[in-house]
Amino acid sequence: CILIVDFGSQVTQLIARRVREAGVYSEIAPFNAAAEAFERLKPRGIILSGGPASVTDAGSPRAPQHFFEAGIPILGICYGQQTMCAQLGGSVTPSTDNREFGRAFIEVTRECSLFHGLWKEGERHQVWMSHGDKVDALPAGFHPVAASEGAPFAVTADESRRFYGVQFHPEVVHTPDGAKLIANFARHVCGLAGDWSMAEFRAAKIAEIREQVGDGKVICGLSGGVDSAVAAVLIHEAIGDQLTCVFVDHGLMRMGEADQVVGLFREHYGIPLVHVNAETLFLSGLKGETDPEKKRKFIGKTFIDVFEEEARKIGGAEFLAQGTLYPDVIESVSFTGGPSVTIKSHHNVGGLPERMNMKLVEPLRELFKDEVRALGRELGLPEIFVGRHPFPGPGLAIRIPGEVTKERCDILRKADAIYLEEIRNAGLYDAIWQAFAVLLPVKTVGVMGDGRTYDSVCALRAVTSTDGMTADIYPFDAAFLSRVATRIVNEVQGINRVTYDYTSKPPGTIEWE
Ligand code: XMP
Repeated sequence: CILIVDFGSQVTQLIARRVREAGVYSEIAPFNAAAEAFERLKPRGIILSGGPASVTDAGSPRAPQHFFEAGIPILGICYGQQTMCAQLGGSVTPSTDNREFGRAFIEVTRECSLFHGLWKEGERHQVWMSHGDKVDALPAGFHPVAASEGAPFAVTADESRRFYGVQFHPEVVHTPDGAKLIANFARHVCGLAGDWSMAEFRAAKIAEIREQVGDGKVICGLSGGVDSAVAAVLIHEAIGDQLTCVFVDHGLMRMGEADQVVGLFREHYGIPLVHVNAETLFLSGLKGETDPEKKRKFIGKTFIDVFEEEARKIGGAEFLAQGTLYPDVIESVSFTGGPSVTIKSHHNVGGLPERMNMKLVEPLRELFKDEVRALGRELGLPEIFVGRHPFPGPGLAIRIPGEVTKERCDILRKADAIYLEEIRNAGLYDAIWQAFAVLLPVKTVGVMGDGRTYDSVCALRAVTSTDGMTADIYPFDAAFLSRVATRIVNEVQGINRVTYDYTSKPPGTIEWE
């Protein structure tokens, strides 16, 4: 495997992801626990990550010195390159201007194993450069193999020791060939086979969960979404009925979804499940409330209250399982370190507070959404479940601007189901990140048959996105939209007009509240 030494970069997990994509197993260890991880894993290669520190500051982190005498290949990225250089007798000067990231072009000046089958001498390639400290004298044995105007040592190599340093970030998508460079390091340079797969991730996590939990009891809150479901199925495979799942059903799910969750867990997997039907509690609390933030806050708080109550009833559970993904972990860390405004108070099962005083079991913490889906398939979850569009914790309540009532939820569920059915029939479901209907608190006049109608407006939303942070509208053709509009107005009582939302994110958000 490959050991990734973490110096605190925001994107260290992306390095691990790229190594996994190359079919090679990797583990991340913080720099101060790297020596121990090295002993345990006996890696065939090491990657030193980037990080916020400056090598020129006293007390800044270093890689364990004996890594450089282990006879295995090492790739240093950004800070990792600088510390390698400093530790091997080169020198680094602090940057005078701000540290920032940016697009840059580098020219390949020499053949290098890292470029195997990819880059040739004289070619120019785009990379995502990090302008921080600069290496200004290379250690003995190193040569520059690619350079840009501002960075004469953009890539350096000591082929005899198989040490490589890059000043840019190959792990981010803005370095178009970055994933291939990392794959070259893992497979061509380190000679690893590239046959690692999700099946092995599953086996490793199961062993890890068993070790963490012992014979303790675990409770897992299900949201109906993919993440908590995959976490629960994986944990159940590890510890069987030491796991109890709690599904707090707030009555704000899509059509048929609650039944699907209950059926999947109880019948398909035989996992113990407490299904709490709390629809009345949630709807009565939402009565008369029209403020989006107050709706969100009420749902979040009530969810936790109900969950806690159930946990108390089950009793004796020491562990709380959550389907936290890597993007949930980084989203809570601001990139700039500056204050950010609250656009929406997010609520999900992952938001259960520490005050529950339970230890966390989070087997998906290092994965990205598409990897969780792959793991879900590996665990035999049905495709319809695994491939499902994301759904917000507060459910339909934030797709019904204004007051939420049972009647309006039922109307929205019908319109939404028709829309999604047409999207599936047209073969568009997987090309869309999220599609849903919104029920507006506006009535308009229409004519149906010979009569006047005075009913609600429904808005349709569909966006493409890779992470939900930014989004583009999905460009349906007019025939598709008019087919959906006709069906909704004909089949759903209470809606007499349908519109399509043409707003990207930003400036819009994906959900309407
Ligand atoms: P927005 O509306 O902020 O949504 O553009 C971005 C993504 O987040 C989802 N979303 C939520 N997910 N709890 C969740 O688990 C929430 O409270 C929540 N609010 C929005 C939204 O569906 C989209 O995928």
